[in-house]
Amino acid sequence: MIKACIFDLDGVIVDTAKYHFIAWKRLAAEFGYELTEAQNEKLKGVSRMGSLELLLEWAGVKKTEEEKFEMTERKNIWYRALIKEMDSSEILEGVMPFLENLKENKISFALGSASKNSNTILEQVGLSDCFEAVVDGNKTTRSKPDPQTFELGAEALHLKSEECIVFEDSQKGIEAALRGGFYAVGIGEEEVLSKAHLVIPNFIGLTFENIVEKLS
Ligand code: BG6
Ligand code: MG
Repeated sequence: MIKACIFDLDGVIVDTAKYHFIAWKRLAAEFGYELTEAQNEKLKGVSRMGSLELLLEWAGVKKTEEEKFEMTERKNIWYRALIKEMDSSEILEGVMPFLENLKENKISFALGSASKNSNTILEQVGLSDCFEAVVDGNKTTRSKPDPQTFELGAEALHLKSEECIVFEDSQKGIEAALRGGFYAVGIGEEEVLSKAHLVIPNFIGLTFENIVEKLS
């Protein structure tokens, strides 16, 4: 029986990929590399250091561990300046009614994100007190596709993985959910997230009951 939902943050609750793109693009430009939107897609769900490592690999640039640390810090300063401008209007359409529907039906829900900026984003958009548990990049030691983020979320809700639905927009996140034994619902395009149990374009017009029906 499905008793709870675990939501990824970036790309599921809000669209922050556009801000990550601006900041990574600025960093890449420093070593003469032009990051494309298609490459930015591949960074979805990937940790901050993991993203930099991919970027350096694409550009064929080598950096020391110290330099890499400094680069991720700088990128994060630029990114934080952008997210500090966010407000509740950036919550993706359909999300608030869906969360309200969960509350009405007494379905628990948690956040499971790779981002170390999760709490800042939740504060900016007015959702700080909304989730029963928040598992972010500060609480995990293993990145998606490892299921640790979602496992900690289920644990905080005192539930088993097979009792929770994970909502994810990235392939790595869907893989993490599946590896952990969760129901995996992809938010986005079927071709990209085909491994998920179910793919929906967004939450518009959907209820918890609708999702459970589609999963069974
Ligand atoms: C994920 C994003 O949610 O968080 C990635 O999809 C990002 O693009 C990762 O790199 C880490 O985020 P942050 O905020 O800790 O740099
Ligand atoms: Mg995401």
